[in-house]
Amino acid sequence: MESKEIRKKFLEFFEKRGHKVVPSSSLIPDDPSVLLTTAGMQQFKLYYIGKADPSKDFGAKNTASIQKSFRTSDIDEVGDDSHDTFFEMLGNFSFGGYFKKEAIQYGYDFFKEMSLPIDFVTVFGGDKEVPADEESEKFWKELGVKKVEKRGREDNFWGPTGNEGPCGPTTEIYVNGVEIWNIVFNQYYQESNKTLKPLEQNGVDTGMGFERLAMVLQKKKNIFETDLFAPFLELIPKEIPDRQKRIIVDHLRGSTFLLADGLRPSNKEAGYILRRLMRRVFVYEKLYKIPTHIYDAIIHDIVHEYGEFYQELLRENNAVREEFKKEGEKFYKTLERGLKELEKISEISSVSAFKLYETYGLPFEIIKELGGQKAATLTRDGFDEEFKKHQEISRAGLEKKFGGHGLILDTGELKAANKEELKKVTRLHTATHLLNAALRKVLGQDIRQDGSDITAERTRFDFTFPRKLTPEEVKMIEELVNSAVEKNMQVIKEEMDYQDAIKSGALHFFKEKYPGRVNVYTVSDPKTGEIFSKELCGGPHVSHTGEIGRFKIIKEESSSAGVRRIRAVVE
Ligand code: SER
Repeated sequence: MESKEIRKKFLEFFEKRGHKVVPSSSLIPDDPSVLLTTAGMQQFKLYYIGKADPSKDFGAKNTASIQKSFRTSDIDEVGDDSHDTFFEMLGNFSFGGYFKKEAIQYGYDFFKEMSLPIDFVTVFGGDKEVPADEESEKFWKELGVKKVEKRGREDNFWGPTGNEGPCGPTTEIYVNGVEIWNIVFNQYYQESNKTLKPLEQNGVDTGMGFERLAMVLQKKKNIFETDLFAPFLELIPKEIPDRQKRIIVDHLRGSTFLLADGLRPSNKEAGYILRRLMRRVFVYEKLYKIPTHIYDAIIHDIVHEYGEFYQELLRENNAVREEFKKEGEKFYKTLERGLKELEKISEISSVSAFKLYETYGLPFEIIKELGGQKAATLTRDGFDEEFKKHQEISRAGLEKKFGGHGLILDTGELKAANKEELKKVTRLHTATHLLNAALRKVLGQDIRQDGSDITAERTRFDFTFPRKLTPEEVKMIEELVNSAVEKNMQVIKEEMDYQDAIKSGALHFFKEKYPGRVNVYTVSDPKTGEIFSKELCGGPHVSHTGEIGRFKIIKEESSSAGVRRIRAVVE
């Protein structure tokens, strides 16, 4: 089934069932607390909270839409089988019209009409604040869906977008192991201080990723083989690796839609996201010697393929292509300056390569490729090493230098976009050390770190362990970390030789390469001398554990064979 037909079928299905079809809102939202539109419900926020009247505005209490959406959380994963930045979301919404029974029935009936067998569904399993969604479970079972999994906050609770807003438990439909449809029951309003208040009227907000739906309906292995991507991918020269091809098309599609909605590349906020997308494709253009007309041809096709559904693309066609060209010229100017500098260097070491990167934005691949013979001894490892050294040196001065725009901290493990996030990731980072230590105390000394990733929202920690943790173990680990927090232990940094650090018993991550001199962070209780944790690390950390706040494990799951994954937050 062609994607055009899927669009039509979806909207007709809901129109027939009393929904008013509403056009997509802009990718640049009115709501100043979010940078870009990430969900279909955003344009309906006021209807959920009773501050606008759907009957007056739409002639119905229920609507349906295909919403342009953009999520930056997955930007580095684009190129695998299922991640993209820009995507479309099919959704039906109700503001005091219908609720769980009907929403679930619609989901079930639509899949039936599309001959898509439901694998299983998930429902909210309940926690201290919000009860388990037994009603949804019952409705699914009445429809004959046998497998209903209960999940927690992280998976089955939506929202709010921005600082505050409607939110609630969700039920999700899976096909071939992939989550396809998220049905949200907006029963609460989350205040900016995180408290939940029941909403006066119940709301429904559903979202189904169009690319994923097309993937299962067109029986493709990944979203890039669907007709939403394939025709554009074909325009890229064959020799270019698949991953880069996907990134190019994803980023061109995203840039085209963002430009058509009036966003312009800049160094701050949403403009910076757009600039990153564009510059990445320019780098590939240079690197792979892609003929200059190709990108313009792809943008042309995107505009015309999608223009039927999004008039703004046709209307802004010239501006989009003009802006794209302008940004390319700007980028190439800097690039040229960098390349001139590159010419002057007789042999490119990792130090000079890093300088070129830092001053002119020349990425490693370009230096290596265009440096030719002069860059013969330059390796990715050497460059990365230099990068890391620099990060350590500059971490202290980061905030001043970047003035809070873009990512001010990105060590691979830690990511922060502004001062506030930097504070949060720092707290989460020290909490992660405490977690690593607590895991050993509870599960034994044999466990090994297998990865970690920290954003302003949460820490994610992978470690080797052969089975699921029991709820008691999870609780003990959480309590151990919180006991270290309550004791307000001190965090001390010492610089020493790598070998000495290892001998001292400091934990280290076996996948990581360390320089000869390293920093060791020790968390200890000054009153009793108890050492809680000792780890090799680049920082940054809080100075006392009391700054961390309450530590909470929100999920424990398998990450891969023999590796467990914990997600945790600090409050
Ligand atoms: N708001 C939910 C989502 O974006 C459902 O539409 O997934």
